[in-house]
Amino acid sequence: MGRLSDKVAIVAGAGAIAEGWSNGKATAVLFAREGARVFAVDRDINAASETRDIIRSEGGECTAYQCDVSIAADVEAMVAACIKAYGRIDVLFNNVGMQVVGGPLDVKEDDWDRLMTVNVKSMYLTCRAVIPHMLRQGGGSIVNNSSTAGIRFTYANVAYSASKGAVKQLSQNIGVQYAAKGIRCNSVMPGYIATPRITDRLKRSNPADYDRKIDERRKAVPSGRLGTAWDVAYGVLYLACDESRFVNATELVIDGGQTASTTGKMWED
Ligand SMILES: NC(=O)c1ccc[n+]([C@@H]2O[C@H](COP(=O)([O-])OP(=O)(O)OC[C@H]3O[C@@H](n4cnc5c(N)ncnc54)[C@H](O)[C@@H]3O)[C@@H](O)[C@H]2O)c1
Repeated sequence: MGRLSDKVAIVAGAGAIAEGWSNGKATAVLFAREGARVFAVDRDINAASETRDIIRSEGGECTAYQCDVSIAADVEAMVAACIKAYGRIDVLFNNVGMQVVGGPLDVKEDDWDRLMTVNVKSMYLTCRAVIPHMLRQGGGSIVNNSSTAGIRFTYANVAYSASKGAVKQLSQNIGVQYAAKGIRCNSVMPGYIATPRITDRLKRSNPADYDRKIDERRKAVPSGRLGTAWDVAYGVLYLACDESRFVNATELVIDGGQTASTTGKMWED
């Protein structure tokens, strides 16, 4: 307890698209349990409010704020609102990301552009708005949610994969550029994580085949199970807090050994 005492953390994408624990929701709750005051940002205010209510029910401090982080003016307003509410920003967790399934011959140009805006530009926008405050304060920690898709072939996921590779490099560049100013920037790379976004999609696409698909994924992970949002949240917490003060401009892979495994097959849908 107390690993984020006295710190203010923005979590972008702090809700979940369906019932259950998403990476952002679990991380926001964990941040609060560790003493942070959490600014829970989501384009869906009901999703952000649900996270806020969980935090408050546990005695934590949280503000829910509606913002589409792919829109520059809204991001500027969001960061100004956080400063007004809490006076500082110590941690930024950029968790927003979307997926479009398909290879280069399938993905529509509009979908490509939208995905790059949501997955990559949004992180540039939030960093651009938050870094001046971290500079003023003398430091801070930024954690961006990439994916193992950013470093490995993922069948028919070309836009997502390219965007997550970009998130990795965005994080490295920011981390190196601002290291001497006390700002760290790292990315996490989750593998197969059973968040509602994934489980709901598999259920909807073919309910009869759901158990087989989950089992297939589980077998591809050397640890023998899918990850949970809490596995991601604990990795993000480490990078966010001062325990990782010498860890900068790098990636934390959270995948049960799948990326390192020569047999670890990646997902096909
Ligand atoms: N679940 C996995 O297996 C997995 C694996 C690797 C990486 N990731 C990454 O983790 C992140 C979160 O995924 P998830 O499945 O936990 O969460 P999710 O898809 O449930 O989304 C979390 C929240 O983000 C919000 N959101 C979406 N677009 C937004 C926008 N433009 N502005 C503000 N809020 C927005 C949604 O409303 C939702 O409440 C993504 O970046 C994803 O790429 C997930």
